[in-house]
Amino acid sequence: MKILVTGGLGFIGSHTSVELQQKGYEVVIIDNCSNASEEVLDGITAITGKKPLFEKIDLRNKEDVSDFFQRHSDLDGVIHFAASKAVGESVDKPLLYYENNLGTLVYLLQHLSKQKKAHFIFSSSCTVYCQADTMPITEDAPVKPAESPYGNTKQIGEEIIQDTCKVTPHLHAISLRYFNPMGAHPSIEIGELPTGVPQNLVPFITQTGIGMREKLSVFGDDYPTEDGTCIREYIHVVDLAKAHVVALKRLIEGKNEKNYEVFNVGTGTGSSVLEVIHSFEKVSGKKLNYQIVGRRQGDVIKAFADTAKANSTLGWKAQSTLDEAMLSAWQWEQKIRKD
Ligand SMILES: NC(=O)c1ccc[n+]([C@@H]2O[C@H](COP(=O)([O-])OP(=O)(O)OC[C@H]3O[C@@H](n4cnc5c(N)ncnc54)[C@H](O)[C@@H]3O)[C@@H](O)[C@H]2O)c1
Repeated sequence: MKILVTGGLGFIGSHTSVELQQKGYEVVIIDNCSNASEEVLDGITAITGKKPLFEKIDLRNKEDVSDFFQRHSDLDGVIHFAASKAVGESVDKPLLYYENNLGTLVYLLQHLSKQKKAHFIFSSSCTVYCQADTMPITEDAPVKPAESPYGNTKQIGEEIIQDTCKVTPHLHAISLRYFNPMGAHPSIEIGELPTGVPQNLVPFITQTGIGMREKLSVFGDDYPTEDGTCIREYIHVVDLAKAHVVALKRLIEGKNEKNYEVFNVGTGTGSSVLEVIHSFEKVSGKKLNYQIVGRRQGDVIKAFADTAKANSTLGWKAQSTLDEAMLSAWQWEQKIRKD
């Protein structure tokens, strides 16, 4: 079985490529290296013993995408990770986000719609829920007006796939709504490589722990939560990668109930910012330099998933604890700063 992984050199794509290869799938990666390096291929090869096929293509280039599909007419599935993902940047550069996250999706679906049978997995996000009214968040929770162009691309992306599936019965697709991925492969051969100031809490913590950043600001400790800090859900990237393989298998084996389905992918457990900091301090044995500052505008108080649908329907469940994921993130941080 031959699977196209777009954005396969990125954080989640590289871990998913490993899991696919370890399950015997042949992987072809497309990446334009806008947020990744070709060296990631060496990490994937070191873990799996097999170098995936790699094509350096910018998916915004429609001709290159057509040419790729002509040369690879035997694809059994596509997992689409390639996108721009920085929420703040999306506010400053909305057109970059609409082009890169939606134009590329349209081009891929145009090709898949022409195939006799197509299986497609889309990287969506818990950001589609914004501040949900009830916790944990189920897939039925209303999708509210997006708070950023990035969030909007995930909402519109899902709608584009749903609309296309309605008129294309042979296109079978699943959107996976991720909660916050973190950590690195246990081999420490691949992990997260944020460019610039990390947007996510965990790389900011590990970079502060290693001395790259002076201190971490915790935005608000007066929220209505147990310790007053915001609650999010964190999932080990390897668990998340495995969810893609299971979802793809569901489509390939024709076990899906509808030709478009949506699943939350998370652990089902929320952790406060202070709990995440304490997890770092526990696994690293280091005190983290952090400071409580005022609330940040736009932060939602709590967001964690109801994962019952993924657990029962996909037969998938996250296995790793926050401490295990944090330990791998810390080991990865130490490795990349040593190299
Ligand atoms: N990391 C998160 O916290 C998170 C949470 C929810 C959803 N997601 C979504 O998951 C997907 C993967 O996220 P990630 O964290 O692995 O990001 P990443 O930036 O590490 O990976 C994305 C990869 O896509 C590539 N890419 C971007 N635009 C491209 C284009 N036009 N053509 C070809 N390649 C292109 C980048 O070079 C990069 O390697 C994204 O769609 C993201 O929006 C991520």
